[in-house]
Amino acid sequence: MSRIRLGLIGCGDMSKAHLRRFEALSSRLQLTAAVDSDEERAAAVASEFAGIRVATDFRQVLDHVDAVLLVLPHHLHHTIGVECLAAGKHVLLEKPMAISEEGCLQLIEASRKAQRTLMIAYCMRYHPLVVRMKELLDEGVHGDVFQVSIWTEQLTQYPEQGWHSDPIKLGGGQFFSHGCHYVDILLWYLGRPIRGTHLGTNRGTPWMKREGTSNVSIEFEEGRLGYHFGTWGARGSRLRYSFHAHCTEGMIEADISGGRLIAHAGGRETLILQADTGKHTENEMAHFLDCIETGRLPRTNGPDSLQGLRLIWRLYEAEQRGSFADLSGLGLDDLPR
Ligand SMILES: NC(=O)c1ccc[n+]([C@@H]2O[C@H](COP(=O)([O-])OP(=O)(O)OC[C@H]3O[C@@H](n4cnc5c(N)ncnc54)[C@H](O)[C@@H]3O)[C@@H](O)[C@H]2O)c1
Repeated sequence: MSRIRLGLIGCGDMSKAHLRRFEALSSRLQLTAAVDSDEERAAAVASEFAGIRVATDFRQVLDHVDAVLLVLPHHLHHTIGVECLAAGKHVLLEKPMAISEEGCLQLIEASRKAQRTLMIAYCMRYHPLVVRMKELLDEGVHGDVFQVSIWTEQLTQYPEQGWHSDPIKLGGGQFFSHGCHYVDILLWYLGRPIRGTHLGTNRGTPWMKREGTSNVSIEFEEGRLGYHFGTWGARGSRLRYSFHAHCTEGMIEADISGGRLIAHAGGRETLILQADTGKHTENEMAHFLDCIETGRLPRTNGPDSLQGLRLIWRLYEAEQRGSFADLSGLGLDDLPR
């Protein structure tokens, strides 16, 4: 089978994490174009990948690609994504899908109409430790799960004038931008949500106009609880990126930063799995290629991603009102496909 020709649109920070993993997929994937409104950034990619086209407007490369990877500011996801799908290109779109419900619905519709793959780059869902934890929870290896807690503690300081600090372009604060990964994972692990709360602050992260730190608690059906604490203001951390799943017969810990999955049961610690950091972006791209080749719906597809964003929007609204958010109807399988 011939290699899929990919165009990278947006050659900023996150694109580097993707580019580092392309070598491992070179038998299936060929980078044929790099696009950035800042020409120097696109040219820098071309200096590492010989023979690719460089452009400042994505429309100039559409004839030379089968698929695109969009790594762009959030307010551009919707318009550029829809145009690429309408041009018959498969789209791997960085998270969050779009900054409005309408934008998400138009992306989903454009994918359906063009019969092209739309996949959202929720890379943590392709992380070997996160995937193995999901399998262990589903198999009930340590009993019945009743609490999943996720910590993401990092220092991420953006320029005050940049798009990351602007709540309109970002679509919200740290919770929308980064917490969307973990809302998606809590939905994947724990099923149908019932209600929840979000509290955010920008104390400690004055470069953020909205929250740079957030605390989310979600109640799921059958009394299960999910929690996420995320901050972009950590000046130090012990847990860094860590998941704890408490079950009736033990606790499973995914030490994401340390690359280890550990079972804690009967007073003992057992190493379940070790993983290469960065492998998840490679697995994610491999899954995108599989979906293009088979026509299969991606694991992180448009309709499911929209459910997670709706949940965030309901939590933001409830935070404003000072009440619990009603999250019923927002499970990953609750939306007609
Ligand atoms: N999965 C993850 O863990 C993760 C981590 C960081 C960022 N991201 C996502 O990656 C995306 C990009 O974030 P980033 O931090 O790399 O931002 P960035 O600002 O570093 O990169 C965005 C790039 O897009 C370019 N750009 C802007 N407008 C353009 C246009 N019209 N056409 C072409 N290029 C244009 C900019 O010049 C810039 O180089 C966002 O969706 C973000 O949420 C994901």
